Amino acid sequence: MSFTIAIDGPAAAGKGTLSKAVAAHFGFAHLDTGLLYRATGRRVLDGLDPVAAAESLRPEDLDRDDLRTPEVADAASKVAAIAEVRAALVDFQRAFARRSGGAVLDGRDIGTVICPEAEVKLFVTASAEVRAERRYLELTGQGHAVTRAQVLADVQARDARDSERATAPLKPAADAVVLDTSELSIEAAVARAIAVIEAARR
Ligand code: C5P
Repeated sequence: MSFTIAIDGPAAAGKGTLSKAVAAHFGFAHLDTGLLYRATGRRVLDGLDPVAAAESLRPEDLDRDDLRTPEVADAASKVAAIAEVRAALVDFQRAFARRSGGAVLDGRDIGTVICPEAEVKLFVTASAEVRAERRYLELTGQGHAVTRAQVLADVQARDARDSERATAPLKPAADAVVLDTSELSIEAAVARAIAVIEAARR
């Protein structure tokens, strides 16, 4: 039996951590759909055409260890605005969502475009300042030389590009539960998400 949990929201809102925790709690498979766009963006930085890069994406492209850099995030949000790139990635995501045993997909358009029939939709957000601070700590912790101001500017630029694009813009689905994590610990956010999902499973 399939059961799909769609988790959308802006960059650095805590979707990744939350999605992994929720998937582990329910024993569901998890797909970080941002990786598809990051891997496509990475291949474009390597010289490929964006649409060709998305259409010929291979599993090993998702395993590269250089997909979490600010440069790749920026390239990802640029290729993500191209309708043909998004179209090339739809079937894979829908098949994943409908696998038996349950699936958690996190991204920007899962509840609105990829899985409008998802049993649970969460929209995870936080203020730009809180998200930038989290991303700053994550990046400096990994040894990247960035400043707070730079990270905030990157977060705001990516938010604007993701929200204002014509195809599948970032926005909560009409029936999504909005979870603002600005003032929540990760444990509290996970507990709220689990409560919403358990209510939907009953
Ligand atoms: O979530 P993550 O930061 O890894 O995503 C990188 C970029 O990929 C986002 O800024 C967004 O432009 C794009 N993306 C998207 N749709 C998704 C997931 C990610 O457009 N479902």
